[in-house]
Formats: sequence, C-alpha cells, structure tokens
Amino acid sequence: MNPSSPQAGGRCPVDHSAMTGQIAPNGCPVSAGAAAFDPFEDAYMQSPSDYVRWAREQEPVFWSPQLGYWVVTRYEDVKAVFRDNLLFSPSVALEKITPATPEVMQVLQGYGFAMNRTMVNEDEPDHMARRRLLMDAFLPARLATFEPMVRSLARQYMDRFIDNGRADLVAEMFYEIPLNVALKFLGVPDDGAEQLREFAVAHTLNTWGRPTAQEQIQIAHDVGRFWETAQEILDNMRAQPDGEGWMYETIRQHLEHPDVVPESYMRSMMMAILAAAHETTSNATANAFHTLLSHRSAWEALCENPALIPNAVEECLRVGGSIIAWRRLATDDAVVGGVAIPKGSRILLLQASANFDPSHFENPEEVDVYRESAVEHMSFGYGAHQCMGKNIARMQMRVFIEEFTRRLPHLKLVPEQSFSYLSNTSFRGPSALFAEWDPARNPERLNPKLREAPGGFYVGPPPKDAITRTVVVREKHAEGDGLCRIVVADAQGAALPAWTAGAHLDLIAGGFRRKYSVCGLATDRSSLQVVVQREADGRGGSRHFCDTLAVGDLLQLAGPKNMFKLDESAERFILVAGGIGITPIMAMADRLKSLGKSYSIHYAGRSREQMAMLSRLERDHASALHLYLKSQGQRLSLTDALGEVDARTRVYACGPDRLIDELERLSEGWPAGVLHFEHFHAESQVLDPSREHAFVVHLKDSDMDVEVPADRTLLQALQSVGVDVPCDCGEGLCGTCEVAVLEGEVDHRDKVLTRAERATNARMLACCSRAAGGRLVVAL
Ligand code: HEM
Ligand code: FES
Repeated sequence: MNPSSPQAGGRCPVDHSAMTGQIAPNGCPVSAGAAAFDPFEDAYMQSPSDYVRWAREQEPVFWSPQLGYWVVTRYEDVKAVFRDNLLFSPSVALEKITPATPEVMQVLQGYGFAMNRTMVNEDEPDHMARRRLLMDAFLPARLATFEPMVRSLARQYMDRFIDNGRADLVAEMFYEIPLNVALKFLGVPDDGAEQLREFAVAHTLNTWGRPTAQEQIQIAHDVGRFWETAQEILDNMRAQPDGEGWMYETIRQHLEHPDVVPESYMRSMMMAILAAAHETTSNATANAFHTLLSHRSAWEALCENPALIPNAVEECLRVGGSIIAWRRLATDDAVVGGVAIPKGSRILLLQASANFDPSHFENPEEVDVYRESAVEHMSFGYGAHQCMGKNIARMQMRVFIEEFTRRLPHLKLVPEQSFSYLSNTSFRGPSALFAEWDPARNPERLNPKLREAPGGFYVGPPPKDAITRTVVVREKHAEGDGLCRIVVADAQGAALPAWTAGAHLDLIAGGFRRKYSVCGLATDRSSLQVVVQREADGRGGSRHFCDTLAVGDLLQLAGPKNMFKLDESAERFILVAGGIGITPIMAMADRLKSLGKSYSIHYAGRSREQMAMLSRLERDHASALHLYLKSQGQRLSLTDALGEVDARTRVYACGPDRLIDELERLSEGWPAGVLHFEHFHAESQVLDPSREHAFVVHLKDSDMDVEVPADRTLLQALQSVGVDVPCDCGEGLCGTCEVAVLEGEVDHRDKVLTRAERATNARMLACCSRAAGGRLVVAL
C-alpha cells in the first residue's frame, strides 16, 4: 500500500501482494482480479455472483481500472452506500457508462435528446419531495386492485399455449404481461407497445452497455425515437386531464406543484419509467422460473404449498434479481468497507453479489424457498430511493408462479438450452426461456375447475406465517417429568436446513404455533430436535405437542432462525440455564467444546427428574457442568458462578424472567456486549388503544414521516406505507423486527434487549415497542 494513501485507520484491509503495477485513485495498487474485472464479459451476465466471488472473499471493495468505478461486493457495504444518499449521490444512476462518441452526440442532439433528472437519479431535497407527492399509487392498498387484471392476463396467455407442450415463456408471456400491466398502471395507451421493446433495449445499451462505436449510432437513433415517443405520449395524455394512471397523477401534480414536479422531469420520467416498469419485472420473472425449474425441490415445494410463493419470489429476487448493479457518486471523501474512496468517485454497487454474501445469508448458494431472510435482498435497492414499484413486480411474479404451479406442475426447462443476456452492467434476464411439459398430464384435463384462480395474495412483503415446511415426527421421548423431546424430519426425506447454536424453530400443529430452541447435533441435517415442557395450565400448545402429537404425524415447521448467536471470537464463556432454558445452552456448549474454548455450564432446576438432557450433558460436558438442584437444597449463586467478568468473557443465559432480571442487574458494570440472554416465554402483548398514544416516526433513510395511531403497532404502520420490516414472532420475543433508533425516547416492551441496551435508546423492536414521547427518528 502507498503509505500516503488515505486508508481508514491507516491500514489497508486488502492483501496487495499480487498487484499489477496500476494505482487506484486512493493511491492503493490495483490487484490482478480488480484489473481483470469486466462486466461486459459474458461470464458476468451468466452468473454475476460467481464472477465476483473472489472479490467478496478477498477484496470486497476494489477499483476497476477498466470501468473507472469503485466496485462494492459485500452486503453490509452495499447497504451502507444505498443508505446514505447524501454522501453517495444517485445522480449518476442513469449516466451513460460508456461515454458517447462525438458522432453519437450529434445523432442524439438531432432528436433534441436531453434526458434529465427523473426520480431515481435526483438528489435531495428535490427527490424526496417528489417521491412523497407521487407515492400514493404505489401503496399496497391501491395496488391490490391490479391483481385480478394480472390473473386474468396470466390465464389468457397460458390458455394460448397450454395444449402445445412447449413454449418460450419470455416471448409468449413474460415479456408482454408486465408490459401491459405497466402501461395500465401508468395510464399509457397500449398502441405502439411492440416498439417499446426495441426502445427499451436501446435505452439499456445506451445507459448501461458498451456497444461498439458503430452500434452506438444505431442505438442513438432508437434512443432518439424513444425520446420523441415519450413526448408524444405525454402530449396526448395532457389532452385528457381526467385520465387514470400514475402518469396522469404525475401530470396533475406537475400542474399543481410545478416546483416539485417540474416540466424538465416529465419527459425524462416518462421514458425512464416505461422501461423500468416492465423490463425489470419481465426479466425478474424469467430469472425466477429459471431458478425454480433448475431447483426441482423448490418448485415442487411451491406446487404442494402455494402459501410459500410470496417468500419464494423474494428468494428468486435474491438469487436472480433483474437489477444486478446500481450506481452512486461519492460527494465527499468516504470510506466503504474500510477502503478510502475519494470525493467524486463513481461507485458500482453489485447487488447480485451482496445477495450471495455468506455473512448475511446463511448457505447463500442454496435456493431455499423457506429462507426467512430472503426479503432482505438488495435487488430493489434500499433507503430513500428503494424501488417504488416493488409491490407491483412482486404481485405479478406471485401470480405467474401460482398459475404455473397449479396448472402445469410438471413444467420443465427444455434441457441443454443456453441462455443469452443483453451485455450491460445492470439489467439481467434471459432473452428466451424454453420450457416443456406433457399436455396429457395437464391436471385440468381431469379437473377443469383447476383452471379457476384461488384467492389472491396480500400485497407487500411475504407474510412470515406462511413460510413453513411439512415435517414428520420421527421420534418422541420422555425427558424427565413433564418434558418431551421431539425429533422431526422432512416429510419427503430431504435434508433440513443447517442451523447454529442458539437457533430456535417454530412448531405448528393443532392450531398452535410455538417456539423451541433447537438442541440436537448441528451436524445432523436429517433431523431437528427440540424439548417441550408440558405446561398443565398453559394455553394448550405444549399439551398438544406432548400428549397428542404422535410418531408419524405431520406438522409444519418454520425456521430454524438464530436471534441468540454465539460470539465465537470471545475467550471465556459462562453458560447459565434455568429449567428448560438448557436447550439452546447445550447446543452452545457442544459448539464451544468442538472449538476447544473455555466454558462452564451452570444449570439450575427443581430436581433431576424435572431437568432436561441431563445424561447427555453429563456424558459430553461433565467437566464443565455445575448442577443446582432445588430438591437437594442447592441454589445457584450467580455472583459465584460468574466470578470475574471482563471484555473477553461472554455470558449466555436462558431461563425464567427472575434469572435474567438478576443477571441484568449484576451486569450493570460490565463492558457492553458481554451479556446475552433469551427469555423462554413472554406474556402475549395485546394492544389496548385506550392506554396508548399516537406518535410520529421519521424514517431517516427514506426521509419520510409515518404516523402510528394508538390502535396500531409501529410495525403495522411501517408495512402500510410499503416499508418492509421483517417480523417473526410479533410479540417482542425474537428480535427480528429490530430497528435502529437515532433520536427520541423509546417505551421498550420487548424481551430481547438488555437493560443497558434499552437505556441507550439506540434500538427498538417495532412489533411491540412504542415512542415514550411524540416522535422518534429511526434508520429506515
Ligand atoms: C427504483 C429495481 C420494478 C419503479 C429502483 C431501483 C432499483 C429497482 C434497484 C433503484 C433503487 C435505489 O436507488 O435504491 C427494480 C426491480 C424490479 C422493479 C428489480 C422488478 C423486479 C419496478 C416497477 C416499477 C418501478 C414495476 C413501476 C411500476 C421504480 C421507481 C424507482 C425505482 C419509480 C425510483 C424510486 C426513487 O428513486 O425514489 N427499482 N424495480 N420498479 N423503481 Fe424499480
Ligand atoms: Fe419478534 Fe418483533 S417480530 S421481536
């Protein structure tokens, strides 16, 4: 590294041992991988995440001399850049990535081409004022009216080829329907729709491609004609002041607020949105079918359980999003992923790579339609500019997958076809996708009613409740008094998801849904096991699982998911368990033993008969185990068990409230991050509007105010304005809905944060906690 280069903390995070002699704008040498990066190579389009795997692993932020951009490949870095749209301006999002030759400039000028700011490349404060004015049509409640149209189109198009046994799904369906839907949404008449495909390709190549000088001339003519067409459409629409559709709303807002929606915006936006509203969805749909049909078990899971489709769409957008890279400009000297990036630098955010980052998505290479974090993909961008049309795209993709899995479950990809993509940095989707099936096996030949559509999907992010898989009870064992160990396996014998110590899962059967910590062997992918404590006076769930559920019964399973992760970097571990709280603690002990770490287990219970997994603990962890049996007058003294706690120690505890409360009290002088705990139950929280007050939450990243009335949770209020916040338990137990708080005092009602964490007011759980005062500012 050049000693004068302005690296954060004075240390370059990248190993520069194999360098090319080229120097990046921050003074660092350019590595061979960085020098070779060329997004116009076919390998980039064939699999963008594979193409930059080396970077994700070794040099996550690098300078590309061929492109003249800084390239960002890891999830947290991509999100951080999206999040800060002042330091990282979106103004270059629609800039020509290949500079125009003088001849091209001449052609474009001939058409009066003057693409201006739209929405996606507008800076603040203008952008947010405009986005707010034009947002209404995109809200979930209004979009729901589009679903019947999407469904009816999907059925009509399928009817045309369903008896043929073979189709190019792109040409025969996935291109045209999103185009029709986009035109309808925008209010644009559909005459001349065929020309739009040519225009959209030209716009993509002109903006994100690297055409030869000769190709650029033809492209420039098409772009020029697109520009003229956008004006014609706009003029015709202006003549009908009462027309319906988003562009009509935009025209009306322009007349009322010309300062916020200026004339210069109208034509550019018309051109940009015509391409953005359909190409993106067509490509994403084709990618999704490619993904699902090449992962048969995922496809079959959807055929069997259509409720999984909304989440499968998110997983498909993660694995095969249609926008794979997006751009920003550093407005000042900045640091991204520890790498100094000088003011004025152009940045390419590789969303397709972020979506495969193992530090964010466990087993990212697996196509897992049960993945609860799938919705966190970066394919729609993030923050103030996050895609406004995401729910239109999701709705269409859900309907297409639902229609195909119901009407053609035996659909297959035509084998050995190769896929070709338009060469550019950002828009990805195959030009054709051939699928085949045996019409004699079409289920509706036997049952014509199958052609009819079932009920619609909810508009918005996927509801977590639906993400469940069918498992079978393989074993059931009594584990002491009132305790029962249940071992489940996939109903079809498939491998179950990998999990880590501290993970929990939800068992769903008999109308009950309950969370239990996973406690088998983490290396065993063929089964998962939990221990259930039978609560005679409980709400019935544990009695159902202990008394009624039998070996061979089917039930639903959600997860596993880990909100109680082990920080393996620490040196010394004190594990504390009360009663049934031993289950995650034992998985932690197993892991720590395998890592060769120093740990002790302090396990308190009423009597041996009422404590779980004792023989296993005594067999595998005898030297670390300390038991405290109330029946023998032994009491757990936390002060003695903890001893000296310093920053290298981690205390993990799971047990009843009084145990956790005492630990919290003892932890008051400890360094931050030492204590981690999990309550094993919480009182169910019911919102009582007569005892609540309304408040306003300002979303800093999206620059938006959201009102939270007394009868709604913050989470519900966020979801109703189209902000996706993941939610799992909905009762302050799991930590999934955590939101970073920047200003304001929180009325914490969760069971996740420690007392010290609450006191900082830096985080809150949106499903249950509220503002103590009238306003909060959060990082969303
Ligand atoms: C912005 C992706 C569908 C309208 C964006 C951005 C991305 C994106 C990456 C930029 C985000 C950022 O800078 O943070 C996608 C994908 C789609 C899709 C992958 C389909 C799967 C649509 C549809 C519409 C639409 C169907 C309209 C009907 C917009 C608009 C913006 C936008 C208006 C600009 C928002 C702003 O800057 O405030 N989209 N999009 N998109 N998208 Fe989409
Ligand atoms: Fe579980 Fe909010 S969703 S804590």
